[in-house]
Formats: sequence, structure tokens, C-alpha cells
Amino acid sequence: MKVTLSSGQELPIEMHQIKIVQKINLAPIPQRLQAIQEAGYNTFRLRSKDVFLDMLTDSGTNAMSDKQLGAMMAADDAYAGSESFYRLAEAVQEVFRLQHVMPVHQGRAAENLLAKALIEPGEVVPMNYHFTTSKTHVDLAGGQVIELLGDDALQTASANPFKGNMDLHKLAAAIEQHGAEHIAYIRMEATTNLIGGQPFSLQNLRAVKAMAEAHGILLVLDASLISENAYFIQQREAEFSEASIQQIIHEMTDLADIVYMSGRKSAAARGGLIATNNLKLHNRILAWLPVYEGFSTYGGMSTKEVEAMTVGLREMTEPAVASSSADFIAHFVRRLEEEGLPVVTPPGGLACHLDAARFIPHIPQPQYPAGALAAAIYLTSGVRGMERGTLSTDRDKNGVEVMADLELVRLAVPRRLFTLSHIEYAVDRLKWLYAHRELIGGLLYVEEPAVLRFFFGKLESIGGWEERLAQVYQDEFGDGAV
Ligand code: F0G
Repeated sequence: MKVTLSSGQELPIEMHQIKIVQKINLAPIPQRLQAIQEAGYNTFRLRSKDVFLDMLTDSGTNAMSDKQLGAMMAADDAYAGSESFYRLAEAVQEVFRLQHVMPVHQGRAAENLLAKALIEPGEVVPMNYHFTTSKTHVDLAGGQVIELLGDDALQTASANPFKGNMDLHKLAAAIEQHGAEHIAYIRMEATTNLIGGQPFSLQNLRAVKAMAEAHGILLVLDASLISENAYFIQQREAEFSEASIQQIIHEMTDLADIVYMSGRKSAAARGGLIATNNLKLHNRILAWLPVYEGFSTYGGMSTKEVEAMTVGLREMTEPAVASSSADFIAHFVRRLEEEGLPVVTPPGGLACHLDAARFIPHIPQPQYPAGALAAAIYLTSGVRGMERGTLSTDRDKNGVEVMADLELVRLAVPRRLFTLSHIEYAVDRLKWLYAHRELIGGLLYVEEPAVLRFFFGKLESIGGWEERLAQVYQDEFGDGAV
């Protein structure tokens, strides 16, 4: 939510108060230097004790509500027929208007089951854009992802309110080219993650559905970030300016044949689900559930998390929750823009994204500019972000590097986790780093896993640039610890 100050300026405002806190530390810069070197310049490999503000992800890191924590105490740990499951099913019926649900341990587990049940080798899966795990599961099933964003969606500085829209001409051409019978399903991702948390419009989703239906193709909605997409629709799409978040979510889920989600994001828990009104489809997917996840009433989740997700699903329809991260991100982006830093606009959901290609244009793409920037940000601020660029893109089948469309560093803003002074501190250190950006150099992989290499891969810095950056920082701020 936002409040208008007497100056006329808008300020994001917390519609909650802090009841439980976790201590965090800002390590002195020599410790941060050692930590990032030992982590192989990969922020995934940092230990959280060395991190001050953890902006790696909004996945499973959101502040939970008192109601979520309370519900966890009442979990029913039955292996089969758990009451916790029936409470989840009721919430899914209410929030998504979908009758059949299966829990899974997280979003990628849903993607695995969908791939197992719905993709034959050689089939294609059109998407507005891929997510890392959603692409990998399609690849592993022998399918092929095709991405159908509009032409301007990859422009990081933009005024397009719906960069997550699927391009309908490209969809028509893809159906024509591959034939509807070779399309496993169409996947639309809410608040499209890898292009900077950018939403699609309801008008676009309706049009995609109409085309899918006309050709007998299934429409799958990745609803991991659905409440933020609904909030953006309310803010940016005139037809829905008076609609509630819940009404907009209904409009979205009514259009999908299958809805799946990571419960770690909008729903602020840890788990996931697949839901549908199509019993035949449900049963086809359900057949795989006990093989990979668990019995149908817990699906690999702890029943405590089933309860937390149940409450989280209802809470994400509240305006104060649906907007909590997005309004902080809008402020973060605006402050960085004021300081002249290259950020993704319009502000999206889940994170503030820096455009590394514009931040450090002197670093060529094969030297992973976004990875280098993420390492430099950690070093000079203690803020842990995540590389979303070539470093996170696996090589192709022939082992050739694939250059990512975008070189982004994502500074996630988990729901209700940070205060505005945290954001202001991050803005200040990012501004300092931008003024010293010529000190940042490139990276090279030294240990490179074959699949999803960014998680565990290790790199080295070209020329040891981080030592000099740390020295310049220390000369100005001292060791930088609080
Ligand atoms: N779909 C989207 C849009 C996601 O953002 C994620 C995860 C998944 C699916 C997979 O869900 O993690 O529960 O298995 N995004 C996390 C992130 C990992 O950091 O952005 P999961």
C-alpha cells in the first residue's frame, strides 16, 4: 500500500507491524571479500551469516503472518486423508475456483509432473517466457520451449505496462508452423520472472485462451506470482481498476485448464500445487504424484506448510499483501532511477532489477557482466542479489555457450521482510558502486555443472579486480561494518 505525504509524494507503507525479528549482521569488508572469493563469485554459494540484506530471492523468504504461524500449529499429520489437505482444497476452490488440487513439494515439482504427464518427445511448449526450471523440465521430457514475448519486452527501459504479454501473431505463426497436435500446452507465467517480474494483461490472457481453445490446445498458468500480476492488472488495465484482487485472480484462473504454483512466493509458504477443474487431466497427473512427491493429501509437503499455504492463498488476495512487495519495488526502482542507475522499468513484481549490460558495458557477455555485478554488489554492500543472465543460462546440446537475452541482477524484495531504511541503504551503496563501476571486471567459470549451472558453479575473477574494489571501498568507508 502507498500513503500520500503532505508534500504530495507517495511512500510505500507497511500495513503490518513486526512481531518477531531475526538478527542480521553486516560483516566487515575484509570478511566479505574472503566470503565472495571462497564462494567462487557465485552468490548462491555464500553463507547467510556473511550476508546483510538477503535479496537473493523472494522464494520461501517472505515474512509469514501470525495467522499462518498459528495455523501451522493445528496441522494434521496423517499420511493419508489429512484434514490439512481438505482445508487446502477448500481454499483453492475459493481463491482459484478450481475443484481438484494436488500438493507438491515446490513449483518445479509441479513442472516435473506436468512434463511427465503432458509432454511427448518432439512436442513444443509455447510460453510467454521461460523460467529456468520450467524450461529444464520441458527439455528433459524431450520437448522444446518456444518463447513468444512481444518485440519490445526485452527492452529494459520501457513504458510498456504489460511486457509479459504473449505476442498473438507469433502464437498464431507457431501453431501454424508446428501444428496444434504437436503443441503439448501453452504456458503463461504470471509476473514473468526472468524479464524483470513483468505482468501480462487480462486482455492478453483472454486472447491466448481463445486461440488455444480454437485449436484444442491446453492453457497452463504458472501462478507462482499471481497476486502481484493481479495487482498490476488492477493498477494498469482500465477495465479492472475497480475490481478486487480476488475478482481478478478468478478471471485469470477461469481461463486456464491447469493452474500450478510455487507456494513459496505469492502464497508466502513453502510448497506448491497443481489445480484444475478437469478431472481427466487431474487423474493423468495424479498418477505420477506418489512416484515423485508423496500421497495425494500431502504431496511431499510438510502438513504445517500445507496449513501455511492455505492461509497464504487467502491472504494474497488482500490488497495490502498483494501490493506489499510491488510497492516497495516501485520505490526502490524510482530511487535508483533518480540516481541515474540503469534499472528495469516499469517496476515489476518480486524484485528490483539492475541492467548489468548498461551498468558495466565494458564487460563482454561471455565474461558474465551480471554475475560480476552481483559479486561486486555483495562486496560493497553485503546485499546478496542473484545473477539472471548468461551465467544462469546453460550451454546448448552441443556445449556451446548461449548468450542470454538480458543481463540482469535481481535484488529481490520478499514480501514484508525489509524496512524502508534497508532499501535506502541498498540505494546508497549501489549509487557508490555505480560511481566506481570501472573497477568491476569479468568472471570465468572454473567449475561448471552441466544442468542449471548457476546453482553450484564456481568462477574466478579476471585479473583479481575485487581486491582493488574492496580497497577503494575501505579507504572511503573504513571496514564498513555496523
Ligand atoms: N515458476 C516461477 C515463475 C518461479 O519464479 C519459480 C521459482 C518456479 C516456477 C519454481 O518454483 O522454486 O518453488 O520450485 N522461482 C524462484 C526464484 C526459485 O528465485 O525466482 P520452486
